[in-house]
Amino acid sequence: MKYGHFDDENREYVIDRVDLPTSWTNYLGVEDITAVVNHTAGGYLFYKTPEYHRISRFRGNSVPMDRPGFYVYLRDNADGDYWSISWQPVGKPLDRAKYTCRHGLSYSVYTCDYADIHAEQMLFIPRGDAVQLWDVKLRNDSDRVRELSLFSYLEFSFHHVMIDNINFQMSLYAAGSSYADGIIEEDLFYEENGYQYFTADFEPDGFDCMRDVFLGTYHTEDDPQAVVNGKCSGSFEKGGNHCGALQKNITLAPHSETRVIFMLGEGNREAGKIMRRKYSDPAKVDAAFSDLKAYWDAKCRKLQIRTPNPGMNTLINTWTLYQSEINVMFSRFASFIEVGGRVGLGYRDTAQDSMTVPHSNPEACRMRIEQLLRGLTSKGYGLHLFQPEWFMEGQKTQSFKSPTVIPRPDKDTIIHGLADACSDDALWLVPSIVEYIRETGDLSFADLKLPYADTFIAAQSAAEAGEKNAEVQTETVYDHMKRILDFSAEQVGQSGVCKGLRADWNDCLNLGGGESALVSFLHYWAMSHFVQLAEELGRTEDAAHYRELMGHVKKVADEKLWDGDWYVRGFTASGRKIGCREDKEGKVHLESNAWAVLSGIADDEKAEKTMQAIDTYLYTKYGLLLNTPSYTVPDDEIGFVTRVYPGLKENGASFSHPNPWAWAAACRIGRGDLAMKFYDALCPYNQNDQIETRESEPYSYCQFIAGKDHSAFGRARHPFMTGSGGWSYFSATRFMLGIRPEFHSLTVDPCIPADWDGFDVTREFRGAIYHITVENPDHVMKGVKQIIADGKETETIPVFAPGSEHSIRVIMG
Ligand code: GLC
Repeated sequence: MKYGHFDDENREYVIDRVDLPTSWTNYLGVEDITAVVNHTAGGYLFYKTPEYHRISRFRGNSVPMDRPGFYVYLRDNADGDYWSISWQPVGKPLDRAKYTCRHGLSYSVYTCDYADIHAEQMLFIPRGDAVQLWDVKLRNDSDRVRELSLFSYLEFSFHHVMIDNINFQMSLYAAGSSYADGIIEEDLFYEENGYQYFTADFEPDGFDCMRDVFLGTYHTEDDPQAVVNGKCSGSFEKGGNHCGALQKNITLAPHSETRVIFMLGEGNREAGKIMRRKYSDPAKVDAAFSDLKAYWDAKCRKLQIRTPNPGMNTLINTWTLYQSEINVMFSRFASFIEVGGRVGLGYRDTAQDSMTVPHSNPEACRMRIEQLLRGLTSKGYGLHLFQPEWFMEGQKTQSFKSPTVIPRPDKDTIIHGLADACSDDALWLVPSIVEYIRETGDLSFADLKLPYADTFIAAQSAAEAGEKNAEVQTETVYDHMKRILDFSAEQVGQSGVCKGLRADWNDCLNLGGGESALVSFLHYWAMSHFVQLAEELGRTEDAAHYRELMGHVKKVADEKLWDGDWYVRGFTASGRKIGCREDKEGKVHLESNAWAVLSGIADDEKAEKTMQAIDTYLYTKYGLLLNTPSYTVPDDEIGFVTRVYPGLKENGASFSHPNPWAWAAACRIGRGDLAMKFYDALCPYNQNDQIETRESEPYSYCQFIAGKDHSAFGRARHPFMTGSGGWSYFSATRFMLGIRPEFHSLTVDPCIPADWDGFDVTREFRGAIYHITVENPDHVMKGVKQIIADGKETETIPVFAPGSEHSIRVIMG
């Protein structure tokens, strides 16, 4: 069963059946003010942080589903009938009204045809201005003159989401509202300069700032009293629950159109006046929208593919890039699942996200990498979850203690100890840094000097204790990388394998002093990237040292981690093997096996067998399971994973994030067929007509898909905020299509199904455009026999001058 389709030309997903089984979401805003919205205009807006600076309110996981949001009601004043443009909240029966939702890149458009009125509402956030625009268009499709009233509605939030949701004796008396000059202002009285505004491009015929007055007692968003009556009451108050309701009465001649712009923004009434002046000019709204379109077009243009796989084309060209960018921009803490209770950077997630889009967003990737380098301790482990602001100079403080200012823990607790360190966190950063340098060619990044989290805090303490000239100790990015690699080399258990510590990539595998095969493989991979960088920088001693260490790690892996047909997942603290053939539960794990191959540690025979085991034990039509069979017996030596329901999340679901590791691993051994089989199984595009099973968005990878040990096998959950976005993009483009930036060249080394005749790619690399045609006359899966650049045969594809365009023929065989 399907509810919509992909519109590739416009880079939109069009939902034409809006009664979806669950919310399908989108993200608005690419700078400081951002929103998460769904297909019925439900959602929330925030400024920089969804936890401490909420602008609008949202009742997550509630009934009715996913409210409130950014609503526009229409009322026919001839008969009092009313409806909303985005279907909900009024929710007219779908046999009497036609609704669509189009989710585009950083905008969403809702349309409605009802009672011979065509209505459209577009939500987006212009670049450069901290304001959300609601661009509303109405058309009278009847032969009658229509007398309509139009009402906006959103609920303001107290800035701190927790206080807003649980501490009403504070939140209800800490914000007030007022109306003047066509602008509703919410005043966060407990804050310095805490204001929001809501306004429109017209002189309102009515307004309400008080939620309960607009809705009316025992009414809801379904049937607001003001809309039922056709009249707002002009309410406002110091304290209470506030809303943005502006009314406009409209007379629409037969077949005529009108347009109205609402603006919801950050700042006080004066800020609102400036935005009102600007966006009351529809040409400015159109220009801002074109600018947003151009912003995303420029990003998408960096890599466009044309392959025989339509799902891959649509996802790579638009949606997976979008998902990867969103994860770099938003980190992982804004969705309808993560509704603002936790912000900051998760070390491992952010480190992986930063690796995936240096070609389309080098600035954001670099910003994240630098933040993570500052969040690294001098011992070489990363702070598992931290606020980048803690380690930045010159942070603003407020003159009084305010609940809405991001708190900074005490100096002596800010740097957590080894007991809270995850064994994998910082290892991910090493390849991300090297990828950034390969993409940009900026080798000087390795020499940038930055503090460690603990040296930064130590200098601050010294300065506060009156020490003059207390300087922050800094080291180069290159040195940070060495400390990361050395930490893993030191933190090994009795078999010489890296310790599991609090957790490794799998948050629910808590091996403590036990050992994790995954981390040793990751360590090996990170070192292989570092060695290439060290060689490039002429640091031959370092290159030799870490190459030797790689040899040692490989020896340990061969001797201790190979189980005959696949690799074990690790050892518990008491030395028990897990993920081995004797195991009844958790017999085969995806992460360790995919990484054994992907890292290059497994030699050919072991790699073949390992991929075979992944295919035999873990493959399902909805993607690869994380482990199988699921655990049913709690075992705290293994960890929390054994207490998760079988088939859900980390316990035997198709956990999406590691799936692309297996695609890359399959490519390592030249199995393009297997890589594509795994790719297609997880591919959300391929489930567009199975929404009765999948339920979630077909344009986004989800965190997990219920596995075969669960009754909801195939049901996807938690869209957008998952490492599978970035990793799908990375594995598909770098390994399957094989387009890889190097320090001084561009590699094209595909691994595809043998029945592909070839494919085309346009790639921008360091400012030059490469039109790449891959031909596969011999129908092989891997191997390049000839490269022709601009008509001349070549060994490698060079870095061309910025602004130039080149045609590259790659002939496989
Ligand atoms: C969640 C976490 C991520 C972790 C994964 C597996 O997605 O955000 O850090 O690696 O779960 O446990």
